[in-house]
Amino acid sequence: MLRKLSDSHVAVVGLGYVGMPLALMLAKHMDVTGFDIHVDRVRELKEGFDRNREIEGPLLRTTTCHFTSDLEEIRSCNVFIVTVPTPIDDQNKPDLGPVEAATRAVAGILKKGDIVVYESTVYPGVTEDICGPILEQGSGLKSGKHFFLGYSPERINPGDAEHTVQKITKVVSGQTDEVADFLMDLYGQMNNGNVFRARDIRTAEASKAIENAQRDINVAFINEVTMILNKLGLSSYDVLEAAGTKWNFLKFSPGLVGGHCIGVDPYYLAECALNIGHEPRVILAGREINDRMGPYVATCIHDLLTKQTGPGKNGKILLLGFTFKENINDIRNTKVLDILKALQALGHDVAVHDPHARPEDVQQEYGIDILSTLPERAEFDVAALLVGHEVYKEMTPESLQSIVKPGGVIYDMKGIWRPMALELGYQFSYQTL
Ligand SMILES: NC(=O)c1ccc[n+]([C@@H]2O[C@H](COP(=O)([O-])OP(=O)(O)OC[C@H]3O[C@@H](n4cnc5c(N)ncnc54)[C@H](O)[C@@H]3O)[C@@H](O)[C@H]2O)c1
Repeated sequence: MLRKLSDSHVAVVGLGYVGMPLALMLAKHMDVTGFDIHVDRVRELKEGFDRNREIEGPLLRTTTCHFTSDLEEIRSCNVFIVTVPTPIDDQNKPDLGPVEAATRAVAGILKKGDIVVYESTVYPGVTEDICGPILEQGSGLKSGKHFFLGYSPERINPGDAEHTVQKITKVVSGQTDEVADFLMDLYGQMNNGNVFRARDIRTAEASKAIENAQRDINVAFINEVTMILNKLGLSSYDVLEAAGTKWNFLKFSPGLVGGHCIGVDPYYLAECALNIGHEPRVILAGREINDRMGPYVATCIHDLLTKQTGPGKNGKILLLGFTFKENINDIRNTKVLDILKALQALGHDVAVHDPHARPEDVQQEYGIDILSTLPERAEFDVAALLVGHEVYKEMTPESLQSIVKPGGVIYDMKGIWRPMALELGYQFSYQTL
C-alpha cells in the first residue's frame, strides 16, 4: 500500500548537478531531505554555498529542504530518488559502482510501501535487473510486492537558462500503474503536469540512452565532415551555413564532446547492445570520431604555427576555454585537455585561460594552473578559441592585439569570430574549422 503524495517524504540521494535542483524544486511542494555521502558538499549546502554555482545562496538558505550525510535522517522517507553519477571506467565500460552503492544504502533503510526511483542515466534493465535485486537482498523485501521501482530520466542541460526543470517534459515510469500514477503526480507538481508516462521502466531507461547517443552521433557526423572539408580547403562553418538554409538540415556544429553525459552515455547503450549480442557500429564509430577531435584540433593549431614560425620551432600558445562546454564551470571530462597535452607533447609552451572554471578545481583535478583573467602582454604566437564562452564573443581585434604578437595566429574552433575575421586584417592569420 503506497503512502499518499501529501503524506510522502522524499529523499534525494546524490546532490550534484541533477539532484540539487530537483531537491529544491520538490521541496516547494513537499517534505524533502537531500542526502549525499560527500560531507563537505553537505556542509557547504547547509551554509548556503553551491560549489557548482548553479544555485544562489539565498535560495539555499531559505529552502525547506534539509541536507544531510547521515543515512539515519532519511530512514523515515518513503520515496527515494537516486541521482548519483554513472561514469565509465578507463576501458569505456559503464561503472555502476556509485548506483550500486547508493542502492545498497537505500536497501538498508527500505520499508514496505516505499518507492525507489532512479534518475541516473543507465541502460535498459539496470533499474529492474541490477538495482531491484540489490534492494531485495539488502532489505529482505520483495520488489513489486513490498517496495516499488520507478525510473525518470533527467534531461537538464547545464548552463541552459531556457530548458529548466520547470519547463522540460519529464518522462516517468513505474513498476506498476499505481506507482506510475503516483510518480506522475509527484513530478507533475514541479512543471504543471508536463509529464510523459513511458510504457514501462525499460522504455524510459532506453529513451534517455538514445537521446544522448543521438546527439553524440550528430556531432560526430559534423566532426567527420569537418575533417573532410578542411582537407578540401573549405571551412565547415561556411558549408554548414549554406546547407543550413535547407528546411530539414539538422543544425549541429563541430566541437569537442566532453562532460559527464554526451561523451559517456553512448557507452552505456553500447554495453547493453553488446550484452545482447548486437555490435553497436554507428554508436561506437561516433564515439571514436568525437574522441579524435581533440588531437585533430591540436594538429591544426600546430600546422598553422609551423607555417608562421617555420618547421621545428616551438611557439607560445594561449588556449581560450577549459570547461567542457560554454558558460559553465564544469570541467569534468573536458576534451580541451587532449589538445593541451598534444600541443605540449609537440614541445609548445601552452597557457590556458577560462573565466568560468575555478583554478583550484582545475589544479586539484588535473594538476594544471589556469588563468582566470586574460594576459595583458602580446606575447603569444597563437590564441586558440576552444570553448564559446560569452566573454570571448565580446572580444574585439583590439583585445586580441593585446594577447597575440603581430603576425600571429587566431584559431577559432567555434567559429564565433568569423564576423570579425575581416576586421583582423592582415595583422593576424585567422583560421576556423
Ligand atoms: N549533469 C547533467 O547535466 C545531467 C543531465 C542529465 C542526466 N545526468 C545524469 O544524472 C546523474 C547524476 O549526474 P550529476 O551531474 O548530478 O552528478 P554529480 O557528480 O554532479 O553529482 C552526483 C552526486 O552524488 C553524490 N554521490 C555519489 N555516490 C553517492 C552515494 N552512494 N550516495 C549518495 N550520494 C552519492 C556525489 O557526492 C555527488 O554530489 C548521472 O547519471 C548523469 O549521467 C546528468
